[in-house]
Amino acid sequence: MRKMIIAGNWKMNFTPSKAVEFVNSIKNSIDTDKRDVVLCVPYVAIQSVRDALGGTHIQVGAQNVHYMDDGAYTGEISGAMLGEIGVPYVVIGHSERREKFGESDTTVNLRVLNAIKHGLIPIICVGETLKQRKGGRTFEVLRKQINFALDEVPAAQIAKIVIAYEPIWAIGTGEVATTSQAEEACAMIRERVSEIHGSYAANAVRILYGGSVDPSTAEELFAQQNIDGGLVGGASTKQDFYKVVKAGLCCE
Ligand code: PGA
Repeated sequence: MRKMIIAGNWKMNFTPSKAVEFVNSIKNSIDTDKRDVVLCVPYVAIQSVRDALGGTHIQVGAQNVHYMDDGAYTGEISGAMLGEIGVPYVVIGHSERREKFGESDTTVNLRVLNAIKHGLIPIICVGETLKQRKGGRTFEVLRKQINFALDEVPAAQIAKIVIAYEPIWAIGTGEVATTSQAEEACAMIRERVSEIHGSYAANAVRILYGGSVDPSTAEELFAQQNIDGGLVGGASTKQDFYKVVKAGLCCE
């Protein structure tokens, strides 16, 4: 049985002091009894948010990681650095990174390998554009992204990673994929993982849906067989994030 995971992606929001103020205001409402809850916060807020969350089971993650351990990469943060401060999760290959910062399938794979090397759990984002969906290319695009991202990742590690299916047209737009579109894509991703890495890895890997998830949509999405939680942007910066966290609990 896969444990559900709800990962908040704050993106470039909250200064460190505002971040602490926010987590202090929501932490007691978040129920971590039956699911993993992670807040992926800006690098500069990692330490202070983690301190503020001390005594809870809410975990802190990063939003990106470089693929080299160190060197002349001004402005970047390595897996070695995140590993040393004990960050458990890191988002990799978010569509905003791919589209606005030129990250490619190849560098996503390198980042995944570096994250694993330093004991981090990657949350690997994949997803199609609206044009690709309308052109009937969704599966082809996802298949390619998955093939690249998981290249050379040992099967034993695959079981521990997290994949987030985030259709680009649904991110920050208020337009959520229908439950059947989301479930169909997540099932296809699991199938692909099974083809490459076998059924043990495919049954264990946690696959999330992301894209305008909020308290009104989470319940139905999280009840799907192949959806093991959500990668939640905007709604993870709101006071009622706890409603997303507890969505789907009734069905477990
Ligand atoms: P959203 O963002 O929930 O605000 O659509 C999701 C994401 O970008 O991970």
